[in-house]
Amino acid sequence: MLPTPYVKCDYDKVYEPAEDSFLLLDSLENEQIYLANRFQNKLAVVCELGPGSGIVSTFMMQNKMPSQNSIYLALDINPWALDATQDTAKRNDCNKVYLETIQSDLTSSTRHNQVDLLLFNPPYVPAETIPEIPETRDDIDTWLDLALVGGKDGMKITQLVLDQLDTTLSSEGVAYILFCARNRPEEVVKSMASHWDITLVEHRKAGWEVLSVYRFIRKTPH
Ligand SMILES: C[S@@+](CC[C@H](N)C(=O)[O-])C[C@H]1O[C@@H](n2cnc3c(N)ncnc32)[C@H](O)[C@@H]1O
Repeated sequence: MLPTPYVKCDYDKVYEPAEDSFLLLDSLENEQIYLANRFQNKLAVVCELGPGSGIVSTFMMQNKMPSQNSIYLALDINPWALDATQDTAKRNDCNKVYLETIQSDLTSSTRHNQVDLLLFNPPYVPAETIPEIPETRDDIDTWLDLALVGGKDGMKITQLVLDQLDTTLSSEGVAYILFCARNRPEEVVKSMASHWDITLVEHRKAGWEVLSVYRFIRKTPH
């Protein structure tokens, strides 16, 4: 079993790792050999959207996934999450790994087709609206709401990422995205099946919610 990073953050400001975070870690652990084979010793660009505490990015860095030569980008809209991610990386002795934390609305700060491995545990809880992005760091309640609330069917943010997947991923790129049952992931799979190979990697009941992680790969590489 791969070690889970030690995390100590102010959970009034960033999302506290929960069942969804741990399901994503377990999925990535299951995929370790697959990813190592896919990227071998290639310089892989790993991009986590919404790192929150940094637990997932740090897990990847700690375990040198997908390859020894990977570099890591952690993009969050919440400025506190950027500090927390750097802090978690340091606490877990990842000081020598290349990690860039950037305040970014989803993938807006990445160049097209440069991401080899995209990871996302999104805000997926259905809600009527998603709050506006705060103008100040101090609006911590809103930053926390943004970690959870996913608009209609909980899919507003995830759908934006799926719509941009083709321009985000490199030719050999892979994405792992977490869904809850209310996001209706089976419909996502059907609607994207003509261009994407989509595999259910893990699913688990978490309280009254069923969570799942899917892997997305282009059918025809660019
Ligand atoms: C459910 S939390 C996941 C945190 C962490 N990855 C984990 O698994 O514990 C979702 C994260 O997405 C971030 N987020 C929400 N909307 C975003 C956006 N438009 N762009 C970038 N990050 C966003 C939140 O700030 C939060 O850190």
